[in-house]
Amino acid sequence: MYDIYSVREDFPVLKEVAYLDNAATTQTPVQVVLAMEEYFFKYAGNHGRGAHRLARQTTNHYEDARENVASFLNIDYKKTIFTKNATESINMVAHGLDWNAGDHIITTLIEHHSNLLPWMRLREQGVEVTIITPDEYGTINPNDIENAMTDRTRLVTVDHVSNVFGSIQDVARIVKIAHKGGAQVLIDGAQSAGHMPLDVGALGCDFFATAGHKGLLGPQGTGVLYVKEPDMLSPLFVGGGMVHEVTVMGFEIEPSPTRFEAGTPNIPGVIGLGRAVEYVRELGTVDIGRHETALAKDAARRLAEIDAVEVYGPEERAGVVPFNVIGLNAHDVAMILDETKKICVRSGHHCAMPGIRFLGVEGTVRASFGLYNTREEVDLLVDSVSQVTSLVA
Ligand SMILES: Cc1ncc(COP(=O)(O)O)c(C=O)c1O
Repeated sequence: MYDIYSVREDFPVLKEVAYLDNAATTQTPVQVVLAMEEYFFKYAGNHGRGAHRLARQTTNHYEDARENVASFLNIDYKKTIFTKNATESINMVAHGLDWNAGDHIITTLIEHHSNLLPWMRLREQGVEVTIITPDEYGTINPNDIENAMTDRTRLVTVDHVSNVFGSIQDVARIVKIAHKGGAQVLIDGAQSAGHMPLDVGALGCDFFATAGHKGLLGPQGTGVLYVKEPDMLSPLFVGGGMVHEVTVMGFEIEPSPTRFEAGTPNIPGVIGLGRAVEYVRELGTVDIGRHETALAKDAARRLAEIDAVEVYGPEERAGVVPFNVIGLNAHDVAMILDETKKICVRSGHHCAMPGIRFLGVEGTVRASFGLYNTREEVDLLVDSVSQVTSLVA
């Protein structure tokens, strides 16, 4: 296990607050900020578009970042595409596949809006969308997916870890079921990548979408999409940087990954993400996962022991702990925790309204743990929530 207290030195803001909103976005280590600073001060140029030294250096660093991310996820680097967030990655799949009326998609009730709305919009094109209901703890039974498969099912898409419940889906089994039925699979790994050991190559999914700014510790404005068969996906954007021939009659698109990255990308962000992935790899996802899960389980157990507190999600959870203080609005609880103890938690529907309604509540308070959180912060959270409950006693 890494030394948590020396790790915390890399995240200066942690001296100021108890940051427990890692499912929304994580803090960025100093090493990542320095890598981005180096780009700005030492070699800033555009990517893939110039013969001069700064452009060449920029291109090399950008492509090194791609190598890092690809090897971290165990995927082919030519199939590793940089995007601005997980939402863009998912939309690229929704818009890039060629849909016909009558095609069928299976997704679930607990998805983040970013992995729900792109599919719901396809209904306008006559695509049928089946939404699978989880159990009360937010776990999807893969058999329900199997039973929903038809000979028209083209895509199955689920989040790996739920940002609402903290539940971990059996994605390996879901991939097998979908492939057996002839459908492709998109895994939304926004809450899993960097938080647990993950081998996307071995998983065998057709698409893997994730954010760069969550468990991977990259800067905001970065995301990743893996596409197993890039030629089957039309690029969402066309324009500069992704073509090798243009005449007034038409154009010829470059192969992947260039094919999907039209326009000047978020170069400093991607370079930061490449460094961030190195950082996560050095600490090790086995230890990170173990640490975050231990904190979350401890917090969930102790919060549930407090009268007037209801905790949601399964016992075996990732680092996400949703709860409510009965009789208080989730936003009020979050405000009080911040105002009185500088504890940063998220509150509300977490961009997953159907999942929240399934819980029968308007919203939840969500504490989500990162690799740099400590047992002392769990103590602080539990004690503070306990004090908040006295307001409704
Ligand atoms: C499960 C899940 N999918 C997708 C997203 C969207 O990620 P981004 O904000 O990077 O687009 C989130 C963000 O919280 C998420 O939790």
